[in-house]
Amino acid sequence: MKGLTNKRVFITGAASGIGRSTAERFYAEGAELILIDMPTLEQAELTALFPNKMTYIQGDVTKAETLLAIQAEVNKGIDVIVNNAGITRDATLLKMTDDQWDSVIAVNLTSIFKLSRMAAEKMKAAGKGGVILNAASVVAHYGNFGQANYSATKAGVIAMTKTLSKELGKDQIRVNAVAPGFIATPMVAKMPEKVLQMMEEKSPLRRLGKPEEIAAAYAFLASDDAKYITGTTLNVDGGTILG
Ligand SMILES: NC(=O)c1ccc[n+]([C@@H]2O[C@H](COP(=O)([O-])OP(=O)(O)OC[C@H]3O[C@@H](n4cnc5c(N)ncnc54)[C@H](O)[C@@H]3O)[C@@H](O)[C@H]2O)c1
Repeated sequence: MKGLTNKRVFITGAASGIGRSTAERFYAEGAELILIDMPTLEQAELTALFPNKMTYIQGDVTKAETLLAIQAEVNKGIDVIVNNAGITRDATLLKMTDDQWDSVIAVNLTSIFKLSRMAAEKMKAAGKGGVILNAASVVAHYGNFGQANYSATKAGVIAMTKTLSKELGKDQIRVNAVAPGFIATPMVAKMPEKVLQMMEEKSPLRRLGKPEEIAAAYAFLASDDAKYITGTTLNVDGGTILG
């Protein structure tokens, strides 16, 4: 398990859920981590998890000052970015406010555009290729009640992934997305128990996914085992089909 030895890997939304598991998996694979998230994490906690080769940037990926801090690290080199940070602000159409719409677009879509542009520019200049991985969702394919904003961003991520793979392929920069089903993380814990049970039933495997199962998909797509894979969206959803 050392397929990412000495790769400089940036992960947004790395303090919780899928991002946290992805950081742990990539660390086990030998990567040097640059983790980005909003909470102020205790240095002791971070050092316990990642005893070396880890930088934590505390900030909001929609804010210019955070992008500047990320740029400073990108300038030192970047092999992989996992654009994982994401939020939900659910409401049905007639109840959804402009703020609920705008904030989800800003985090889930616009930050991926800005960070991918930043990463690709450096990867292209370095001439060693690279990997951009984006967080999509099963709801991009099926829609989901109360998630006009969220599902639109995730469908946008899939289309952006395909487009960037066409634009960046000649520089050996691969761009892929992962579309998780319903995964047991703090994001999903906000949903009512009844809905979660329904989601379990919609998977042929009859359970929610685990964050480490999404981390495994990111680790595969980041590795050389996936070096002829670009422009694709890997569904990791236990076969979930939303009705
Ligand atoms: N959990 C699921 O079932 C599921 C399903 C499909 C897709 N996803 C996607 O996977 C990704 C991770 O989801 P999760 O379930 O681990 O969620 P989570 O809420 O557990 O973690 C998301 C992390 O992103 C961070 N974040 C949010 N906004 C940010 C910002 N503006 N700047 C920096 N960091 C920010 C949060 O602080 C948090 O640590 C998201 O993009 C989500 O849409 C999750």
